[in-house]
Amino acid sequence: MRRLRTAILISGRGTNMDALVTAARDKEFPAEIALVMSNRPDAPGLARAKAMGLATAAVDHKIHAGREEFERSMQILLETYRIDFICLAGFMRLLTPWFIGAWSGRMLNIHPALLPSYRGLHTHERALAEGVKIHGCTVHFVVPQMDEGPIVAQAAVPVLDDDTPESLGARVLKQEHRIYPLALGLVASGAVRVEGNRVLGAVAANDRALTAPTVI
Ligand code: GAR
Repeated sequence: MRRLRTAILISGRGTNMDALVTAARDKEFPAEIALVMSNRPDAPGLARAKAMGLATAAVDHKIHAGREEFERSMQILLETYRIDFICLAGFMRLLTPWFIGAWSGRMLNIHPALLPSYRGLHTHERALAEGVKIHGCTVHFVVPQMDEGPIVAQAAVPVLDDDTPESLGARVLKQEHRIYPLALGLVASGAVRVEGNRVLGAVAANDRALTAPTVI
């Protein structure tokens, strides 16, 4: 089995990166982590990836003249490492249509909300402010529109009366760590297909729990 050479792009602590790296340690997993790249040279996740013996790269957006130049630097590295597939994991830079087009159908993102609700930032604060009873996370293909694109996997968690953004975020994060490796596994193995805005085959192909609400 040829494993997809996957790059994980991070900006910060990298706990989703950890979950993907752990899953990919299994030689049967259909993707291998061939590069961890960050736009922040001081990202804690980057140091951890290095300590784990993974190939790492920092492409500092601040020293590039603009978005395109920054992305071209990333693209050169992605080509150098012969990357097939990208997982955005807490990568906090907006990407241009050029970069997204270059990776169309080959780039996933994880978002800390049940899309299409709560696109953008501060999702846990906003979910609490709106009084929703169910919150969660989404893995989706990346398209030029921010936090849109065919959804591969979602997990839901209850919102509890005494939740703070931190406690709710921690409950969601646990589910992120569960569904991101599952989603990458589904896509990398070819178990799912994209039809328009829908990703089909996820439940039948793998884990019924993947799309079922998770009650904690
Ligand atoms: C995660 O909660 C991820 O869903 C979110 O950033 C966090 C990164 O945590 N991503 C976004 O908000 C993207 N818009 P991590 O660095 O520990 O994986």
